[in-house]
Amino acid sequence: MTEYKKLVSYALEAREKSYAPYSGYRVGAALLCTDGTVYRGCNIENATYTPTVCAERTAFFKAVSEGKRGFRAIAVVGGSGEGPGDYSYPCGVCRQVMKEFCDPDFEIVLLNGKGEIRILRLSELLPYSFDKNNLSN
Ligand code: THU
Repeated sequence: MTEYKKLVSYALEAREKSYAPYSGYRVGAALLCTDGTVYRGCNIENATYTPTVCAERTAFFKAVSEGKRGFRAIAVVGGSGEGPGDYSYPCGVCRQVMKEFCDPDFEIVLLNGKGEIRILRLSELLPYSFDKNNLSN
């Protein structure tokens, strides 16, 4: 838990960069790689809506495009107010992106507005999932 305090603070920092003029729901993420590096991401919205990208995928795509392939955990914070609101669970599309690159024990670290931290594993967030192994079955 305490090992993730720093990661959560990076996610809060990333949330400051959120571009969410349409929903007003601002999200920040911080992705910890197995080599110890951290990639931040925020949600980026668009006037035509569909190009909108979530904070988690921004962080993943930044890391993957820099050659990273091993991931340990991601911290996510979101909310419509000044600070985080309720726990901001990753959407289904982001869970599937995590599934592409992460082991089942990859950890998703969530912070709510009360300062509470909840840690979930990818296997809990996306059970019975489809991945590259299915393609060879
Ligand atoms: N959003 C994220 O950044 N991550 C999620 O996992 C869920 C939703 C963003 C997308 C959009 O900009 C706003 O939150 C409202 O859906």
